[in-house]
Amino acid sequence: MQISRRHFLLLTAGLAGGCATGEDAGIPAGPRSLNVGPAGNYATDGVYQKFRDEGFFIVRQGGKLFALSAICTHRKCKLTAKLDGSFYCPCHGSTFDPAGHVTEGPAQRDLPVFEALPNEQGQIVVNIPSL
Ligand code: FES
Repeated sequence: MQISRRHFLLLTAGLAGGCATGEDAGIPAGPRSLNVGPAGNYATDGVYQKFRDEGFFIVRQGGKLFALSAICTHRKCKLTAKLDGSFYCPCHGSTFDPAGHVTEGPAQRDLPVFEALPNEQGQIVVNIPSL
């Protein structure tokens, strides 16, 4: 098996950097709901990283608000949001577009989208299934 220079560097960087997986990073694994505040807190298009350590990003795209898993679908490392709204996994180099679709592996599955709906008080509640 041959490995490209890029993948070798990404792999060794991930090993040396001690990738924090969802479990290692203390993100609860079980299903839960989290109140993330009023929709007005997310009024402009972009990625909101405040809940990355809870395992998700809040994303507003073209008037649509949703929550996107912050955990890589390859081996559960925590993702980094980039300035252009895409996501990068520091462990082995997978990338995802702003909608969570895989743009480069080794991850093969897109990022799960979590339900983010307003409650009766106008607060957005994110429903997170088991990670
Ligand atoms: S955990 Fe391997 S690419 Fe993300």
